[in-house]
Amino acid sequence: MENLKKQVGIKAAEFVKSGMIVGLGTGSTAAFFVEELGRRVREEKLEIIGVTTSNVTSEQAKALGIPLRSIDEVDHVDLTVDGADEIDAQLNGIKGGGAALLMEKIVATYSKDYIWIVDESKLSEKLGSFMVPVEVIPYGAEQIFRKFEAAGYAPTWRLTDTAEKLLTDMHHWIIDLHISKISEPEELARTLDLTVGVVEHGLFNNMVKKVIVAGADGIKIIE
Ligand code: 5RP
Repeated sequence: MENLKKQVGIKAAEFVKSGMIVGLGTGSTAAFFVEELGRRVREEKLEIIGVTTSNVTSEQAKALGIPLRSIDEVDHVDLTVDGADEIDAQLNGIKGGGAALLMEKIVATYSKDYIWIVDESKLSEKLGSFMVPVEVIPYGAEQIFRKFEAAGYAPTWRLTDTAEKLLTDMHHWIIDLHISKISEPEELARTLDLTVGVVEHGLFNNMVKKVIVAGADGIKIIE
């Protein structure tokens, strides 16, 4: 599995050219992409500016010597490469398994080009095998949790190893929804968007145009 993640990370780095402002995703797959960019910065004098999607990725990129700016310090992002937790046949996806969905969605929104890198286990006909993470403001969050329970979304709190509510990089909490078979991802996204106190959710509908997938038969690109 690690090898498949590495393959797609290296493949995606081929789309990065000198002069680009590059969105750097979060997670174990995106980490291979960032690592490869770091190698090219060092060994090939690749000149890029990175815009990170989490504190973890910022630390990794800094250690690799990739120059960084925040999303507010750039006027655009040329390309963002990120992992995903589940992708359906229409290329709608679920992200946020690593709790970075808010920064990931913001950086993706301002990117001219956006690529996901995954191993083939992440592909499914309909979304729902993976939980839908919802980032919420702590004030009033228990009310939102009850609302989700009543709607049948089977919510759970995202917890730390010490069973505290996990605090995201943007100082919010995460409620994970366990909805098997999401037949209308856009309708669910609309409902979540309209819920007061919800900052963002992990449904990334219609955002990606290209997915690089690694599997037993090698690498393929779905567009
Ligand atoms: C983090 C994410 C990740 O991109 C997603 O969880 C995939 O991670 P991994 O490559 O480790 O499976 O959305 O918030």
